[in-house]
Order: sequence, then C-alpha cells, then structure tokens
Amino acid sequence: MEIDLIVGSMLGAAEYVADEVEQQLLDQHQVTQHLDADLAELKTDGSHVWLICTSTHGAGDFPDNIEPFMSQLQQERPDLSQLKYGVIALGSSQYDSFCQAGRDADQLLQDLGATRIGERLEIDAVEEPVPEDVALEWLPQWREQLEAQ
Ligand SMILES: Cc1cc2nc3c(=O)[nH]c(=O)nc-3n(C[C@H](O)[C@H](O)[C@H](O)COP(=O)(O)O)c2cc1C
Repeated sequence: MEIDLIVGSMLGAAEYVADEVEQQLLDQHQVTQHLDADLAELKTDGSHVWLICTSTHGAGDFPDNIEPFMSQLQQERPDLSQLKYGVIALGSSQYDSFCQAGRDADQLLQDLGATRIGERLEIDAVEEPVPEDVALEWLPQWREQLEAQ
C-alpha cells in the first residue's frame, strides 16, 4: 500500500514523530512524506492512504507548513469518498484548543467523504515527553485496521 504522510510541524516534534512512523511503515509500504503538501500532487482516488501527523499552534491553528494544504481542501472541496486516512495529533492540554488542528483536519476529511482508519491519536506534550513512543505504540493497531481493508 502507498501511504502519504502529511506533516504539520512548527518546532519539529510532529516531524520527528512522522520520521519514526515512516521508518516502521517502510517494511511493508511505500511511504512519501510531505512537509509542504500540495493537493495537486496527491492521489485522492483511493490508491494512496493519507496519514496526517500535525501539531497545533497559535490558538488552535494549523502549523504554517500544512495550513496552505488545509486551505486548498477547504476551498477546492475535492471528492474524497475513495480516500482512507489516519490522524496523529500533537498538542498540549495547557491550551483550551487541545489538538484542534488534528481534530479540524479529521473533521474536514470526513466532511469531504473520506473514511478514517482506526481512532485519531492525540498526544499531549504535558503527559508525554517522548511523543514518538506514543505514536509507535498506537501504530500497530492502525496498521492492522489498514491491512484488514
Ligand atoms: C506558541 C505555541 C502555541 C501552541 N498552541 C497550541 C494549541 O492551541 N493547542 C494545542 O493543543 N497545543 C498547542 N501548542 C503545543 C504544541 O502543539 C505541542 O508542543 C507540539 O508538540 C508541538 O509540535 P511541533 O514541534 O511539531 O510544532 C502550542 C505550542 C506553542 C509553542
């Protein structure tokens, strides 16, 4: 299966999580990481699975590097009814808008008809000093559900 790993990161934590997740997935999948995702370059026909890995910044905002992609989705509203995806959200429970970017990305993809695989992972920087460990604990059940499709 081909997986597009779409990353939103300001300070590098989500990028590091994505790197670790990619290393795990590479044993069975082709993985392309997108630090500046562009809708025009991504497959929406179901031949690729999207895995969104994003932190939240500002007051519940998307990181700068993923914001243009999310705006593209909001404006162009592509038909994503064939698409399967997962979400890894990083945030901090010190903020009211905990993991809002990951939650908004999840909602937007669902609104566009896409089907989420597994549960959305939310990693709280207050509780989890090593976010990649949490992601690697979550990943096997996500893979199982993906591979059962
Ligand atoms: C200026 C700033 C604003 C933040 N705003 C939020 C927020 O609104 N909601 C949230 O859950 N986390 C927020 N965070 C926490 C980050 O999402 C969290 O530290 C994350 O691990 C950073 O990942 P990154 O290094 O990939 O950007 C904020 C962090 C900073 C520094």
